[in-house]
Amino acid sequence: MAVRVSSTEIDHDDARERLEIDLLLEAIHRRHGYDFRGYAIASLRRRLWHRVLAEDLQSISGLQERVLHEPGCMERLLRDLSINVTEMFRDPSFYRALREQVFPLLRTHPFIRVWNAGCSTGEESYSMAIALREEGLLDRTRIYATDIDAGALQRASSGVFPLERMQRYTENYLRAGGTETFSSYYCADGDGARFDPSLGEGVVVAQHNLVTDGSFNEFHLIVCRNVMIYFGSELQEEVLQLFGDSMTRFGILALGRKESIRRSRHEDDFEPLDQAEKIFRRRR
Ligand SMILES: C[S@@+](CC[C@H](N)C(=O)[O-])C[C@H]1O[C@@H](n2cnc3c(N)ncnc32)[C@H](O)[C@@H]1O
Repeated sequence: MAVRVSSTEIDHDDARERLEIDLLLEAIHRRHGYDFRGYAIASLRRRLWHRVLAEDLQSISGLQERVLHEPGCMERLLRDLSINVTEMFRDPSFYRALREQVFPLLRTHPFIRVWNAGCSTGEESYSMAIALREEGLLDRTRIYATDIDAGALQRASSGVFPLERMQRYTENYLRAGGTETFSSYYCADGDGARFDPSLGEGVVVAQHNLVTDGSFNEFHLIVCRNVMIYFGSELQEEVLQLFGDSMTRFGILALGRKESIRRSRHEDDFEPLDQAEKIFRRRR
């Protein structure tokens, strides 16, 4: 039986470890096309070591060898690196702010394009679809739900979410200002909750990598929550540039609770619409 060794026991040499991480990320980029080189190092390091230990390896270099020679290993590592944690109506007050401050602005457009970047398994996109429906806007809205993770997107396309989570989602929905009975939006299907397919009609699910792929449309609203938190500061700047290039005039950008544009090169491009909920409006 293989003996599990903790990362601290294996290697105390930070500089060598950093070199190994850099080489691994370079190898992943050149061999598999995924670019994690600008991600924030602390969380990246934790996740790489998690994979080293899960594969019964001894070092990051060992992981590099396996990633280069065994395609399945890259897939497993990708799952570790794409942190898919999400939920419906996550941070309910954010959805209240959407209803009260953002939707009235969107209402002035005959057709509304929303980009849900880093949508994970789709709960966020469906939450927006429900809120838009209740405000009478869904029929003229298209939500582009994108993520780097193909497996997560498959689940997003299905419109089926774990039934066991519905109690929590119902509470979130009510706190988010929902006006209907939440259970009217889904029916139980085994251990899944299958959401009303008409909600998904306005949702386009597609793979898009915020690091390597470019702008593909002009959006009235970009929602990218709890994604940039995993990026280093330079990468955050590049993604904010991408969002700026992908917006209509006076477009709206919504970030996660712990994310900010403060002290960014792009800070002056936006004015806060709701500082607490990290919702910004492009100045021009
Ligand atoms: C923590 S989840 C956030 C999900 C959702 N936005 C929310 O707040 O509940 C982060 C998502 O970002 C995605 N992601 C990470 N790097 C990405 C990249 N370079 N391009 C697109 N999506 C990325 C991950 O795959 C994951 O699904």
